Amino acid sequence: MKTLMTSALPYANGPLHLGHLAGAYLPADIYARYKRLMGQEVLWVCGMDEHGAAITLRAKSEGISPQEIVDKYYALDKRCFEELGISFDYFHRTTAKLHHETSQDFFLKLAADDQFIVKSSEQYYDPEYKMFLADRYIKGTCPNCGHTEAFGDQCENCGKDLSPSELIDPVAVLSGAKPALKETKHWYFRLDKHEAWLKEWIGEGKLDGEQHHDAKAWKKHVVGQCMSWLDGGLQPRSITRDLDWGIPVPVEGAEGKVLYVWFDAPIGYISATKQWAKENGGDWEDWWKGEDSRLVHFIGKDNIVFHCIVFPSMLKAHGKYNLPVSVPANQFLNFEGDKFSKSRGWGIDLEGYLENFKEFPNHVDALRWALIRNLPEQQDADFTWDGFTEYHDKDLADKLGNFINRVTVLTHKYFGGSVPAHPGGEHNTAQTQVQSTVSSAVYKIGQDIDAYRFKDAATSFVELASFGNTYLQDAAPWTLYKANPDDPKIAETMFDCAQIAAALALTATPFIPFAAEKIRAVLNQIPANTGEWQLALDALANGQPLIPAGHILGEAGVLFPKIIDRKDDSRNQIIQRERDKMAVILAAKETELAEAGPSAADRPEAKPECTFDDFLKLDLRTATILTAEAVKKSSKLLHLTVDLGNEQRSVVSGIAKHFAPEEVIGKQVVCVTNLAPRKMAGVLSEAMILMAEDEAGKLVFVSPPEGFGNGWVVR
Ligand code: 2FM
Ligand code: ZN
Repeated sequence: MKTLMTSALPYANGPLHLGHLAGAYLPADIYARYKRLMGQEVLWVCGMDEHGAAITLRAKSEGISPQEIVDKYYALDKRCFEELGISFDYFHRTTAKLHHETSQDFFLKLAADDQFIVKSSEQYYDPEYKMFLADRYIKGTCPNCGHTEAFGDQCENCGKDLSPSELIDPVAVLSGAKPALKETKHWYFRLDKHEAWLKEWIGEGKLDGEQHHDAKAWKKHVVGQCMSWLDGGLQPRSITRDLDWGIPVPVEGAEGKVLYVWFDAPIGYISATKQWAKENGGDWEDWWKGEDSRLVHFIGKDNIVFHCIVFPSMLKAHGKYNLPVSVPANQFLNFEGDKFSKSRGWGIDLEGYLENFKEFPNHVDALRWALIRNLPEQQDADFTWDGFTEYHDKDLADKLGNFINRVTVLTHKYFGGSVPAHPGGEHNTAQTQVQSTVSSAVYKIGQDIDAYRFKDAATSFVELASFGNTYLQDAAPWTLYKANPDDPKIAETMFDCAQIAAALALTATPFIPFAAEKIRAVLNQIPANTGEWQLALDALANGQPLIPAGHILGEAGVLFPKIIDRKDDSRNQIIQRERDKMAVILAAKETELAEAGPSAADRPEAKPECTFDDFLKLDLRTATILTAEAVKKSSKLLHLTVDLGNEQRSVVSGIAKHFAPEEVIGKQVVCVTNLAPRKMAGVLSEAMILMAEDEAGKLVFVSPPEGFGNGWVVR
């Protein structure tokens, strides 16, 4: 089986930040690198998403043409990805001629197969700019959360997908005018026709009556978000726009209209494959339609519906295309407790990181590692500079770098740098604990990567490094050497340690590819080849060494100079500069709050004293939200189902103004489970979810740390 991988095409309208990297690119890079090391065929395509209103608006605000904007961000993103070691097989762009042709052909095939309806309706129009107001050209108040700056296609505050007609008090973005209604004609994809098979496909993993994938292996929040969409019923979706930037709709009577960006962007995966095939002599159709090819989409959670519902329906409607066997979408990464925000300057973009940290040793791998250890796989995560420092200093410097260094130094000291023969013969390690620990670690790291559990894989990697340190420390060859330099236990220890070091050098490659090469150079190995992971598994299974006796190790050196280093503060200073920038932004926010009036920062009044016994009456437990939907006739309530470990319960929660249903699915929470059940807006509520509220009325879930089980007591 070969794997066709895609990563969300980034919009060419602004720089990418760390959250983007952690969402759709870094996990995919680990996966692709691992597959290649296993000798499995992969093709990983991506490219820039260069159409849509976000681009034209950005071009206007920068006073340059849309083409100049997309050229600028294409070059920037491509360079950043390359520097970060993101190893796409092909990075394309949707303004390419081949992509335009591919998208138009796709449209024409669906049109011929009766997958569209064409209808006229009244849509908002800017009388001053004389243009229809699609997507980001119109703003207003979000009907879901009350955010006053929601766009015509989405509210960026609560994440809800919107259409311009849903906005309250709409305003034309460019002119500021109140829009008028005017009739226009558009093409609508008959998404409603696909509802039935989608339910079976996403819910059970079945396609045309046969098992297509393991539905239980898909992430809960992905399935939950899709099911809540499907339960709401699918409607035809308009896939054309009245705009002058995009791919012209290739039929008569559609002059001045282009394909909607979300129609052409995923087709970009196909055109990127075609372009790759053209340049490399491959067969694009076999990757997309072949029986031995599996499709995997790597995305962030805001793209779930398009990759699990809309694009699969387009592929199915077209016929013969494979559907994804997995869409391992990640949740969002925040930055130091808040959302990344370009306008507030909160966070750091990829270009900024690469520039500001370029003096930092292993600057790319330090970032990759901090993100990997904290990936938002099941729930939102938070990037902090403290975490960045700790993951680097504790995992990479103290555990990994220290072990490799000690092994090389000691092998040089006792054996002139040559890996000694194991006293029991080369194959003797098969029976040792070291051999079996190394073997199961290499296997488990691979299995976790294969199942998109990248954080677990990274944890096992660190555990292997810790095991190496403990083994070496316990064996203490330096003590043995003092007593008897010919003690065979010294050779055994150093032989075993060389095997652990080789396993670390290999398994480091998908996570920290640049440092992995440095480690391999220290061990005097050439960079890892295609298929090397599989060869290592085979060798370990046969009791053969990963590094043979007699192999000469290279020179030892400090691989990961620590960030917090008492002798050298230069690296810490680089981070301190970032903290200083944050402090300025926080100070500005505090000033804003203070100016808003003293009451804004007041804490709610304390409640009267209660007894410990009163408190003990409450049964508080951890739970995960499985499903969420709006309660009809209520703007405040969401109807949720929560998993309490041994049972599921229905919960009605007054959080609809703060969260869209799809945002809360998969969240782990704390529930009060022994309140008397009661009906709210006609729906039974059997538990209550705990929330924290700040001075601005913002609600957040009180959550246990990621990975905590359900149904456990909070006290
Ligand atoms: O959300 C985004 O950044 C989109 N540009 C992703 C597109 S993914 C694909 F369909 F091309
Ligand atoms: Zn909203």
